[in-house]
Amino acid sequence: MKDERSSTQEELSDLLVEERHFEPPEEFKALAYLRTGEIREKSWEDPEDFWGNAAKGLHWFKPWDRVLEWEPPNAKWFVGGKINACYNCCDRHIKAGQRNKAALIWEGEPGDSRVMTYWDLYREVNQFANALKSLGVKKGDRVAIYLPMIPEAVVSMLACARIGAIHSVVFGGFSAESLRDRINDAGAKVLITADGGYRRGQIIPLKHDADYAVKETPSIEHVVIVRRGDFPLRVKAGRDHWYHRLIQEAASYCEPEQCDSEDILYILYTSGTTGKPKGIVHTTGGYLVGTYTTTKHIFDLHHDDVFWCTADVGWVTGHSYLVYGPLAAGATCVMYEGAPDWPDRDRFWAIIEKYGVSIFYTAPTAIRAFMKWGDKWPDQHDLSTLRLLGSVGEPINPEAWMWYHEHIGRASCPIVDTWWQTETGMIMISTLPGVDRMKPGSAGPPVSGVRVALYNSQGQEVKTGGGLLAITYPWPAMLRGIWGDPERYQEQYWSKWENIYFAADGAKRSEDGYFTLLGRVDDVLNIAGHRIGTMEVESALVDHPAVAESAAVGIKHEIKGQAIVAFVTLKEGHKFSTEVEADLKEHVVQKIGPIARPERIVFSADLPKTRSGKIMRRLLRDIGEGKILGDTTTLADATIVERLKQQYEEQEDA
Ligand code: WT7
Repeated sequence: MKDERSSTQEELSDLLVEERHFEPPEEFKALAYLRTGEIREKSWEDPEDFWGNAAKGLHWFKPWDRVLEWEPPNAKWFVGGKINACYNCCDRHIKAGQRNKAALIWEGEPGDSRVMTYWDLYREVNQFANALKSLGVKKGDRVAIYLPMIPEAVVSMLACARIGAIHSVVFGGFSAESLRDRINDAGAKVLITADGGYRRGQIIPLKHDADYAVKETPSIEHVVIVRRGDFPLRVKAGRDHWYHRLIQEAASYCEPEQCDSEDILYILYTSGTTGKPKGIVHTTGGYLVGTYTTTKHIFDLHHDDVFWCTADVGWVTGHSYLVYGPLAAGATCVMYEGAPDWPDRDRFWAIIEKYGVSIFYTAPTAIRAFMKWGDKWPDQHDLSTLRLLGSVGEPINPEAWMWYHEHIGRASCPIVDTWWQTETGMIMISTLPGVDRMKPGSAGPPVSGVRVALYNSQGQEVKTGGGLLAITYPWPAMLRGIWGDPERYQEQYWSKWENIYFAADGAKRSEDGYFTLLGRVDDVLNIAGHRIGTMEVESALVDHPAVAESAAVGIKHEIKGQAIVAFVTLKEGHKFSTEVEADLKEHVVQKIGPIARPERIVFSADLPKTRSGKIMRRLLRDIGEGKILGDTTTLADATIVERLKQQYEEQEDA
């Protein structure tokens, strides 16, 4: 425990001390692609030089004239260069003798599977690119993709990229209304969907929802339907087309468009936790260089690796580290359609064993679920092919990190905790697996070519301790704007400090330059004038042997301003009692001090999360303050908050 040296002047308190650390295993280091931090050191001095060199690993039809043109808040990377993302993900590998290498190893939820070599992928992408052209899709047109996790999702994205069309992938778990709004905002001309997809043994009727959506999307001219199962649907003559027919009829080669480096590659909508979805715009050259380079450096990708990023293609993680990064690097990628607990809670471990996955990249929300389900599920499987683990999406609590390290990594795999955002396009903060010491819960230093710092609201740099996370120099995969809303782009990201990107996350920096993420700035707790990141309180709770997951929120309090209420999910086999509650409060005091003692602990079987698995603390705050619940449309399961509300009141009475 540390004395409360945090003062009200500080932007964010730095309370939790984590002493554990791990060096990269020697066997890993010996074969690692990067074994020293030398290149990275130099890159921080001269990012443009670093990125200029990195870009040479890709195929350019015409080289760039200048690496960077920066007129804040607008950046252009590889100015004057001509490139095609699909060419770099397919043709380049065929030409380099990799045609028979597996590009995608796909497994459906019911257990069916399909392997696509680079040649198979190349052939199908070419055919589908021609099919899109035959439907009138031209360079710069928008194409909406609303598909399950099936290979055709990847083919569709690459086919768009091949002809210079802009894809907008909408997560298959979103409703008809969300799909409609995203199609309308982008003005998409074609929608690619499927008859359905599998999730926990159920069929998600995508085409059915798509039919609802396109009733109110005047821009849609054609709908393409992939046949995943043999699920019932209506086909509207003239508008709807079967994917397999289009492919059969299409010519086998489609000349790739020579895109300008700054041509838009895709739009991806992100709602954050509130408000109207923003269409984040990514362009071609810089994005590809950023994702390709980070895939190689951070995941230490080797020729024979089997890389599994569990994210859905509907999220940026799926775009950058299931599709563009690894395919540009010529990797073999695993793709899985369904739920981690179907038909049993060992599905992920069974997949790793079956395909010999060597690099596994997933989210803390999943790791905490595995922890909650218990060790017996991974323990049943041979996970010895794994050599590197990754985490992304939320801060990973040190205890969850330790569990991941011991039970999945068998204490012999480095873990990369990668911080980034839909807006950043690529990983921005992470250790290098063959170079850096790992500290559970801390993401590490910025990656090569990226400059990160902490600032307070006055714009002064915070060297050690807590502050607001800022990116102080442009990076190649950065967003180029919000589709149709330049003011919001300026306002949201570039107005806090001059020419510096505001990430809206709190973090602390230690003397060795490691960044530890503390949670979203909107969620920060303010207890008697001390600003405390949600992550520290939550990690202190998850540190307790009974706790699997927790969410801390600040609720109005007459004296302290705010009091902490912690929502807690227990591990299997543990039960709620007033003793456990008292014990947990004491545990937090022990770990971080009396300032962080929760006023109340609320036990709950689930926590409200977004569809991508992020805890929605705003709703928990509303529950705690007895408010009418705010916008719940971004929730994965809206019934959870109603149940929680009831529980909250019942436990209060008890
Ligand atoms: C927000 C961005 C990045 C792809 C998936 C999420 C949080 C992300 C970490 C991490 C702590 C993290 C941040 C960030 N976040 N990775 N390793 N440690 N927090 O993309 O939906 O745009 O969310 O996710 O709060 O700002 P996103």
